[in-house]
Amino acid sequence: MSIKIVGTGSTLPEKCVTNEDLTKLVDTSDEWIRERTGIGSRHVSTGETVDELAASACEKALADAGKSASEVELLLVATCSPECGIPGVACQVQSRLGASNAVAFDLNAACAGFLFALNTAWAYVEAGIYRNALIAGAEVLSKIVDWSDRGTCILFGDGAGAVYVEKCDRDGMLGFVQHADGSRGEVLRCDSRALKNPYADVSMKSPYVQMDGREVFAFAVRQVPAGIQEVLDKAGTEADDIDLFVLHQANYRIIEGIAKRLKQDISKFPVNLDRVGNMSSAAIPVLLDELNRAGRLKRGMKLVLSGFGAGLTWGACVLKW
Ligand code: ACO
Repeated sequence: MSIKIVGTGSTLPEKCVTNEDLTKLVDTSDEWIRERTGIGSRHVSTGETVDELAASACEKALADAGKSASEVELLLVATCSPECGIPGVACQVQSRLGASNAVAFDLNAACAGFLFALNTAWAYVEAGIYRNALIAGAEVLSKIVDWSDRGTCILFGDGAGAVYVEKCDRDGMLGFVQHADGSRGEVLRCDSRALKNPYADVSMKSPYVQMDGREVFAFAVRQVPAGIQEVLDKAGTEADDIDLFVLHQANYRIIEGIAKRLKQDISKFPVNLDRVGNMSSAAIPVLLDELNRAGRLKRGMKLVLSGFGAGLTWGACVLKW
């Protein structure tokens, strides 16, 4: 038994911020940002919340699948930038949608979050616990980005994507792998709250994203192709048989590096980061939705999805569309 994606949706905040706009905030240039990252613009929240964006993307995924909210049995939201610690975003989304029959909870594996949530849904379906799932990746990273740090504020964007999956007897997801290495967590970090209570007053490092860009780059181009090869082996297929590699949209140079290591033509690696930047857990489902709506995903195509990021976390899955 497996799961297949039968509906996709995505929502971005209205405001689009270009590289040129960023030159008014920090000492940078459109040329530098494009050359080093491939990013040209990104959407930034002017009030849209993570749950609002996630709910909107979920509504579109349900509509695309021809399903109603009351049919959903499992509702997962992958995010690392929720507005509140409690309740979870998934519960807020459940309430917005009226998905009252669904169990709802969040999952945080940073930029690998959506992929890990998809794998989690598969495991639940495989175990016979649920028959379907609505899975969103949603972020408002603009509130955890230091807008005076030119090394990071140029990279990120806000948005949400979602997929509706249901059990299938054959094809669908063919295999997945996922990994974590907490010992390298310091290379990409964001503290949330300092410990302050009547018995302790401990200062925190920074409430904003802190990143060692070179280390993250090296991790991604080395570990991700190895993870993809691992899942290809597990699924009994090879890179040449894959139609599209839908990767986390962190940086165009990272995607180029991965394509090169896998000896695959770059045309098999669709990108939207030029328009939306790095949206962490929202990146893969937003790109999937764009491809789906553009008619680029045909039934029977073989896809690799791969997410990677803070944690460090990384993973991949192979699926037949
Ligand atoms: N504009 C102009 N100059 C800049 C900017 C900027 N926005 N940012 C940094 N610089 C400067 C630096 O200050 C430095 O100047 P110096 O030589 O005078 O000290 C110079 O450019 C080179 O800086 P580096 O950090 O070494 O630049 P690098 O070539 O490594 O590029 C980048 C930085 C783009 C962040 C790169 O390391 C990278 O892509 N890393 C991957 C990080 C990533 O994708 N993170 C996303 C989150 S994690 C994830 O999603 C997987």
